[in-house]
Amino acid sequence: MSVQADIKIPAFGRTTGERDLYVFPFTSEDFHRIRSLIYRVAGISLAPSKKDLVYSRLARRLRVRQIDSFSAYIRLLESGDLQEREEFINALTTNMTSFFREAHHFPILSRHLGILPKSTPISIWTCASSSGEEPYSIAMTVVDHFKSFNTPVRILATDIDTNVLEKARRGVYPLDQLKKLSPDQLKRFFLKGEGNNDGFAKVKPELQQMITFRRFNLLDAQWAIREKFDVIFCRNVMIYFDKNTQYEILKKMQPCMQPHGLFFAGHSESFHHAADLFKVCGKTVYSPKH
Ligand SMILES: C[S@@+](CC[C@H](N)C(=O)[O-])C[C@H]1O[C@@H](n2cnc3c(N)ncnc32)[C@H](O)[C@@H]1O
Repeated sequence: MSVQADIKIPAFGRTTGERDLYVFPFTSEDFHRIRSLIYRVAGISLAPSKKDLVYSRLARRLRVRQIDSFSAYIRLLESGDLQEREEFINALTTNMTSFFREAHHFPILSRHLGILPKSTPISIWTCASSSGEEPYSIAMTVVDHFKSFNTPVRILATDIDTNVLEKARRGVYPLDQLKKLSPDQLKRFFLKGEGNNDGFAKVKPELQQMITFRRFNLLDAQWAIREKFDVIFCRNVMIYFDKNTQYEILKKMQPCMQPHGLFFAGHSESFHHAADLFKVCGKTVYSPKH
């Protein structure tokens, strides 16, 4: 076996001492330009320590496009290739999520549904919905609350990343990602795969039809959202933005909420710097100041 061949494989999470192992030339200037671009198009603020991570996330794109250096790849991105720009964003987002993540939010959601006016439709927006675990957890909570699949609730699930949205629309998950669900929830909300689909489960169509999936970039200057939401889930996405970007997004989000609305944030997110827009009303739960 050739030792040389082993050395050439770019590995995930290399240490700084291994930088000479980059197969595609990737200079500090390239990294700087990539950080600026992802900040400009998606608001994502990448720490200077993420150079190796960026290399491993994007090297695949260079292979697919048969490009031999990062500087050439950056030229392609800056030439206005929108398809590649989408792939670039998809590669640099972090999509970690799970069913009933931050579980204390779901009983609060259920209680809130109980106090909303019965006659009008209720709308919920999950604005960084990733691969669907969050919107499906919301939909299950809604069905449990109304004890029916026929509810007055509409759920809008959006994300910037088109790959995770596709996964969310499919609604197929490995069984070991469904461990937090009870056997009863699994039976009511999922179809167990057989044959080639053994080890997977698919969300039932009755649950899927409660949700509309759409691509939406929170950084867009103009928001084509006319709705006033009763509930917004904006969890574990603001951590990727700096405080100014967070504030600009919150300023657009607040008018999209009903005065009685609830806003759920992620466990490490706090919006004290937006105290003019939102007030705290629970652990990582806010309501708009109108
Ligand atoms: C860590 S996941 C959080 C998923 C889910 N909300 C949760 O808490 O489990 C962050 C998501 O934010 C999305 N995201 C990042 N930047 C975004 C932007 N500018 N607009 C919309 N979504 C964005 C990513 O694609 C990713 O799916």
